[in-house]
Amino acid sequence: MKDKFSILTGITPSGTGEIHIGNYFGTVVSFLELQDKAERIHFFMADLHGLTTVQDKKQMQQNVETQILSYLACGLDPEKTIFYRQSDIPQHTELQSILNNVTPLGLIKRCHAYKDKLQKGLDKDKVNMGLFSYPVLMAADILLYDPDYVPVGEDQRQHIEVTRDIAERFNHIYGKTFKLPEIYNVKATAKIVGTDGKRKMSKSLGNYISVLADEKIVKKQIMGCYTDPKRKHATDPGKVEGNPVFVYHDLINEDKKEVEELKKRYREGKVGDVEVKERLFKAFMKRFKTERERYQQLKAEPEKVKEILRTGSEKARQQAIKKMVLVRERIGVSNKYSFYKYE
Ligand code: TRP
Repeated sequence: MKDKFSILTGITPSGTGEIHIGNYFGTVVSFLELQDKAERIHFFMADLHGLTTVQDKKQMQQNVETQILSYLACGLDPEKTIFYRQSDIPQHTELQSILNNVTPLGLIKRCHAYKDKLQKGLDKDKVNMGLFSYPVLMAADILLYDPDYVPVGEDQRQHIEVTRDIAERFNHIYGKTFKLPEIYNVKATAKIVGTDGKRKMSKSLGNYISVLADEKIVKKQIMGCYTDPKRKHATDPGKVEGNPVFVYHDLINEDKKEVEELKKRYREGKVGDVEVKERLFKAFMKRFKTERERYQQLKAEPEKVKEILRTGSEKARQQAIKKMVLVRERIGVSNKYSFYKYE
């Protein structure tokens, strides 16, 4: 890894835009570390990618709003990170359109976004073009800004490889224009178990604890959490390992003595599930106090949030424009008769 490096990453607002504790400890924390280390860092809401699944106006608006507020509340610092919305920079789609022409159909047909749908039984003629060309838009998102690394989860690895293939083809045809990005391996944080105790915490499964939701909702999510299925009474010895409430205590509760004590009592059958959960709820409120307050403040100040996004997109656009001037020149759509200029 270089000493000085640039990073770019995006997230699709396809869930609800909320951050749950699995996201928080899995990706947000490592993003916050990168934000301090990287020389330049881009982070954007991939709202146009979201269109492949969210086709309801209200829901789209809501998801993106929640996403913007959530990331800012959790510590994304707009002084350090260039923070913007994909659709605010038209050069993303412009470059996608150009890259389409150096992208072989076969390459995209091998991509899992498309293949997964076919496997789920969707007729290939019914897959929409947005989903099909999802990887090309993603390549455009990245190549516009020449980042050194793109931190993404394992499920996105293939898309980064496709981005490199597309960049290589373009460079081969038109001369070196794009930097080939590398995957930044987000520290392999173990997947965090969901409140159902069975599967990975995820929004689509509804087995999550939201970091910034209303207190009542969080309480319900915590109190409804699965524990040791074999334990019938509070006086039965219980299992701590893999038990979601203790997994969460370990992550969230900063009072390690309390956690050890609770574990001991649980193993001995000396504490009920309700008490363990109530203490978890208390620890949660303490751990996320700052983030939760910041969320409410930001929500009450839409003009301030708008200004943050305006500043972020202006910075990003400067860079995107520069790149597109070069791309237009390379492909030959600008010549001595060109009057079109980016401002
Ligand atoms: N497809 C990514 C995801 O669902 C989001 C994304 C869109 C992205 N464009 C990107 C991530 C560019 C990294 C770089 O997680």
